[in-house]
Amino acid sequence: MTADSAPSRAAELLRDTRVAPSILAADHSRMGAQVEEIMAAGARVIHVDVMDGHFVPPISVGPPIVEAIREQVGDAGGILDVHLMIEQPERQVEEFAKAGADIISIHQEATPHVHFTLERIREAGCLAGLALNPSTPVAAAGELSEMVDLLLCMTVNPGWGGQSFIEASVSKVERLRGQLPAGVPVEVDGGIGEKTAPRCVEAGATALVAGSAVMGSDDPAESYRSIAAAAGAT
Ligand code: DX5
Ligand code: ZN
Repeated sequence: MTADSAPSRAAELLRDTRVAPSILAADHSRMGAQVEEIMAAGARVIHVDVMDGHFVPPISVGPPIVEAIREQVGDAGGILDVHLMIEQPERQVEEFAKAGADIISIHQEATPHVHFTLERIREAGCLAGLALNPSTPVAAAGELSEMVDLLLCMTVNPGWGGQSFIEASVSKVERLRGQLPAGVPVEVDGGIGEKTAPRCVEAGATALVAGSAVMGSDDPAESYRSIAAAAGAT
């Protein structure tokens, strides 16, 4: 693997505190323009929420959308952070990696074969992320810390944008941070905005997914900059 290969570029970007806009809340008819706007404002980690109508009720997007924006995001020095809210994610890893994912996160609750799937993600040349639902104990992450490149802590129940941040998440992020190796970033996802982002950073999160607060606002670039400034993000 070369020095500027996808996993090392992603790992390098994740060393700094980052706000990761989720395209779930974007206007899909103007995807290219919306991605351009937030990247011009400084975003480098673009979060893609994949929902299958089974693990979570809604259906969102699949590999074709990842493929459609990979060049634009890569050319601007960014990475694609793909969050799979799907059952049996082991069946889909290869396809998302081929489509251009840099990070693939799977849910602890979505398969009995979590360790196996994290290994497949790394073999496919991506960073392996483990996502935990609000009710899943932090101990699950401890069992897998060797296999995990990123820990995604859901701060709402997965499936929908625009929900309120679950307050108990702050202490959960602290406990996760305390139990993971220093090099494994904690990402928070759900209800993140100008008020909640700094609290999550204080608790130990360094990747902050923001959907409706950025892409759902009237001025995504300005909203991105405000949240990044509030969180002390790059
Ligand atoms: C929720 C998704 C989130 C979603 C966050 O299931 O995983 O990434 O886009 O949306 P907001 O920021 O609006 O809570
Ligand atoms: Zn997400």
